[in-house]
Amino acid sequence: MSFPTHRPRRLRRTPALRRLVAETRLSVDDLVAPLFVREGLEGPAPISSLPGQCQHSVDSLVKEALRLADLGVPALVLFGVPVTKDENGSGAWDPDGIVQVALAELRAALGDQLVLMADLCLDEYTLSGHCGVLGADGEVDNDATVELYGRVALAQARAGAHVVAPSGMMDGQVEAIRRALDADGHIDTAILAYAAKYASALYGPFREAVDVAIAEGGDRTGYQQDSRNRREALAEVALDVAEGADMVMVKPALSYLDVIADVRRAVDLPVAAYHVSGEYAMVKAAAERGWIDGPAVALEQIGAIKRAGADFILTYFAAELAEQLDRG
Ligand code: PBG
Repeated sequence: MSFPTHRPRRLRRTPALRRLVAETRLSVDDLVAPLFVREGLEGPAPISSLPGQCQHSVDSLVKEALRLADLGVPALVLFGVPVTKDENGSGAWDPDGIVQVALAELRAALGDQLVLMADLCLDEYTLSGHCGVLGADGEVDNDATVELYGRVALAQARAGAHVVAPSGMMDGQVEAIRRALDADGHIDTAILAYAAKYASALYGPFREAVDVAIAEGGDRTGYQQDSRNRREALAEVALDVAEGADMVMVKPALSYLDVIADVRRAVDLPVAAYHVSGEYAMVKAAAERGWIDGPAVALEQIGAIKRAGADFILTYFAAELAEQLDRG
């Protein structure tokens, strides 16, 4: 063999060398834990499609949040499961609705120790299972829906959310929410916009977690993005930034690493990515069968999302990873 001047393996010889030249580092600070709270529960109820995750009662939710704070995880994102649904999804902005009650309890127990993010959508609360209200033609009525999102944002901010995270992919939702918050004095409540959210088959386990079935074989292709599109994500992100988003998100994560990298280059705001329920469930299922090393794959996947350009990652692995990772 000749003597190439550059031998990359020199820098891979020892763990310390590899640590020294690592280009990205995943830390506990990069993680956001999605949590589910269900109205009327006495204690936690496991979610079979998301091994290790559960629907929480308000009490068990607060305990889990305290545990996450102890582990050094900086933030959680909350989803609510109401007992009753209606046409407009009014439980989403009811001051006594499950998410509002839970946020108030979390804020009382944790203060500002954890960033409290509230997913802002109607799908858990509407009879149709759609992310908005239906118009006379049976389609989701965009403008009527964003008006309701404003109400949800207010209810969440009043209950103690630091961040509201609109996930419905309605046009103009960020602007409507920013206006509603500002008009009520919540100028410091931040918006994490699900800016590039794709109509994905990877949300299946989540829908079991929140008891959502979309009416009559419907889907969300009329409002979420088409997975064949890459440039369109940048147009969506630009709109949300112009409307006042403080942070933007790409979702799902692993099938959209190109989009994460594009968005990272296009904006200077924090970029989030959501490693969604199906991504988590696939790792768990294969690990249960002994086909892969679950914790190693989790680390590799969440690390790849960081490498692609995400500043932080919403992941059901948050607590597990926090136990494996160094802090800070
Ligand atoms: C909608 C919402 C969904 C998820 C987060 N917010 C489901 C959907 O768009 O159908 C999915 C999260 C996951 O799969 O982990 N409120």
